[in-house]
Amino acid sequence: MPSDKPVVVVTRKLPEAVEARVARDYEGRFNPTDKLYDAEELIALCEGARFIMPCHTEKLTAEVIARLPESLQAICNFSVGYDHVDVAAAKAKGLIVTNTPDVLSDATAEIAMLLMLGAARRASEGERLVRSQEWTDWSPAFMVGRQVTGKRVGVVGMGRVGQVFAERARGFAMEVHYHNRSRLAPESEKGAIFHARLEDMLPEVDYLSLHCPATPDTKGLLNAARLALLPPGAIVVNTARGALVDDEALIAALKSGQIAAAGLDVFNDEPGAPDGYLGLDKVFLLPHIGSATRETRDAMGFRALDNIDAIAAGREPKDRVA
Ligand code: DGY
Repeated sequence: MPSDKPVVVVTRKLPEAVEARVARDYEGRFNPTDKLYDAEELIALCEGARFIMPCHTEKLTAEVIARLPESLQAICNFSVGYDHVDVAAAKAKGLIVTNTPDVLSDATAEIAMLLMLGAARRASEGERLVRSQEWTDWSPAFMVGRQVTGKRVGVVGMGRVGQVFAERARGFAMEVHYHNRSRLAPESEKGAIFHARLEDMLPEVDYLSLHCPATPDTKGLLNAARLALLPPGAIVVNTARGALVDDEALIAALKSGQIAAAGLDVFNDEPGAPDGYLGLDKVFLLPHIGSATRETRDAMGFRALDNIDAIAAGREPKDRVA
């Protein structure tokens, strides 16, 4: 007998507990092999469905959205970032769009700290030396990196992840600077130094960590002109989105020494990273794993489902972005 429960399309393999909740409350269309669906497959899967729970790997462009079936009511993302969804097109089609804020802030801030420390202390290079058995000597001049403790860090985007990252950086006695659309209240700012203009902050920091969303306004935000404003030997960290960085400019700045090192978890055109980074020892690279912890994956799924539950019950979802 066909179920009268709303159909939820789950585009990727999700944690067991999350899929169990989908199966309990909805008619789930799951993806047990975790294959990446193409646009045609996604559109076909949505036939008769009321909800889709995509990840950032599913590109819901205006063209795809225009072809989604009328049965679909909402795109409830399993992600905080929603730059993979053409929000204007979704709105125009009357689709609700939600995301999963808060629940991944700790995990992402951990990866930003890992990247900052790894880039500063030459972790990739050191790890490769040991692993390839090319580590043959030790001397005071060997593998000398930069200290993090007590240095100045600039946070671009002092939202949820930016604020957790700032808190962790304070644990390393760092002086926190930030650039944000608006200044935070003193209890959230916690002594961090606000810069209304990004250009004013850059010369003041030794480390720069990106935490703002990718939008048409922030695309290529870290370009050659801004990299040149950082003090020579600064270190750059990106756990937000690859689109924020002009890769050619960053690669050139790394090669010239203007930027001493970089820690990158996200890239333009994932999966994979631009060739120019691959041969540089001073770059610490990770494959977009900022939110990849068991706790956070569960929490992201439950948060997306809370949004679906609200919409299914005719209530306003907590995390509506369109
Ligand atoms: C997010 O939630 O935006 C992470 O980047 C994973 O998609």
